[in-house]
Amino acid sequence: MGGINPYQSASETVLPTKPYTITFMPLGKKVTVDPAALPLSREGKPGSILDIADGNGIEIDHACGGVCACSTCHVIVREGFDSIPEATEDEEDMLDEAPGLELSSRLACQAVPDGSTDLVVEIPAWNRNHAQESH
Ligand code: FES
Repeated sequence: MGGINPYQSASETVLPTKPYTITFMPLGKKVTVDPAALPLSREGKPGSILDIADGNGIEIDHACGGVCACSTCHVIVREGFDSIPEATEDEEDMLDEAPGLELSSRLACQAVPDGSTDLVVEIPAWNRNHAQESH
């Protein structure tokens, strides 16, 4: 299930206007995000890290379907953190439930990079059950 949680407060997402890349670790898989192609899936906010991962065949758990109601889509943004608008209170609340929280942790379904810089995003070990490279 995808879509927007109606109980969630609006956050100021700014969709990218030029292509940028996200490198997913530890896969080392670098994907180019074409703003014109967004959204790439039906998962999470359009243009979110989850949307981009899913659209490129990179699995990140998302038990609630990308509506900010779980914390299974927790990722750590290693580079490019400042290109993502601040987390909403709802996202912060959910993140508090996530194991291994770091200062640059985000929920992949809520974090929409603005495309001003390239990103490196780590999928935490506990969320890599399905994160295998497809050959
Ligand atoms: S998929 Fe549930 S909060 Fe992101």
